[in-house]
Amino acid sequence: MAHADLHSRNNSFLHLNELEKLAYEKLPKMAFDYYAGGAGDELTLRDSTAAYDRIKLRPRMLVDVSALNLKVDLFGITIDNPIMIAPMAFQRLAHPDGEPAMAKAASRAKTIMVVSTLATTPLEEVAAATTDGPLWFQLYVYKDKGVTVDLVSRAQENGYKAIVLTVDSPILGRRYRDVKNLFQLPQHLKVANVKGVLEKFPTSTSDSGLAAYIASMYSPALTWKDLEWIAGLTKLPVLVKGVLRADDARKSLESGAQGIIVSNHGGRQLDSTISTIDALPGVAEAVGSKVPVLVDGGVRRGTDVLKALALGAKATLVGRPLLWGLALDGEDGAHRVLETINEEFRQAMILSGNNDAASVERDMVVLS
Ligand SMILES: Cc1cc2nc3c(=O)[nH]c(=O)nc-3n(C[C@H](O)[C@H](O)[C@H](O)COP(=O)(O)O)c2cc1C
Repeated sequence: MAHADLHSRNNSFLHLNELEKLAYEKLPKMAFDYYAGGAGDELTLRDSTAAYDRIKLRPRMLVDVSALNLKVDLFGITIDNPIMIAPMAFQRLAHPDGEPAMAKAASRAKTIMVVSTLATTPLEEVAAATTDGPLWFQLYVYKDKGVTVDLVSRAQENGYKAIVLTVDSPILGRRYRDVKNLFQLPQHLKVANVKGVLEKFPTSTSDSGLAAYIASMYSPALTWKDLEWIAGLTKLPVLVKGVLRADDARKSLESGAQGIIVSNHGGRQLDSTISTIDALPGVAEAVGSKVPVLVDGGVRRGTDVLKALALGAKATLVGRPLLWGLALDGEDGAHRVLETINEEFRQAMILSGNNDAASVERDMVVLS
């Protein structure tokens, strides 16, 4: 048997870029396409990794890297590496253990998982799956304001440490793979955080079931006023996810946000959007050191994390590779994905002459 075959038989992988192919072999087409895909021509999706590849490093020599500090602090929580788990919907499509398995993987790696509103497990059960794993809750705003109040207060009661308000999704981006597949959740799965008609997608004979769900349930009327309202609902810090412009970052802060996540939703919303690593410096400059700026989209390598820190991020979030890990081997698979990129990040820090994740300097990177 060829070496590569042995790898795929064992579900084993050496680095994150090997994962998608392995997961493709494992998952039903509808689930794989939903996870892997992006909007439109997937230009932004492809550019999310290409944009990191364009950036070069300028390592510093003869720095004592025998002792490293890779930890970062976010609102009083210390995580072992500046690498967290991005909010992602419907994790039981990847593996029957779904979100609780992902939360356990986060806890083992001593990092934060952001749990989606669109989880296939109620937020209470995800919280119960880990004793020491810090969780944040990602919020989508339903037309019915009572649903938002309920979600935020349940997150707070169940020990979630922050609310992440996603602002890039007044409607769902047109994801042609899902349109073609008429994407639906299997009968046994539902949107577990909400009740009644909100639990199931409407049946659509011409569109992604999720697109139809969001069009009918989510509010496209959201403005900065609603951010103020949400920040006032809770004592938890509220981060705004989906910011790509300096002026929006400033408005976020004026409206009560205590953190920014530079994100284009993994290329799943507006195609042709700027890649997040290219948007990061402008946002980071506008925000200064007032609140933490995080970034997601296309983070696959330890060197990507180093580049993001140099350009002003306090931490990064990883999306799809963790779903692939979950699909391959449940909690252990997702944990291995985190361990792999954590180790690459450690090596990148050492080889670039950086011993502290909190003080990687801008001139570490060359933008071309
Ligand atoms: C399958 C899938 C589901 C997602 N669901 C959500 C979600 O429910 N809420 C949200 O704010 N972002 C969601 N995202 C976006 C991610 O949080 C994140 O921005 C993106 O995946 C990061 O890019 P990456 O996958 O290239 O690492 C989802 C992404 C994927 C791939």
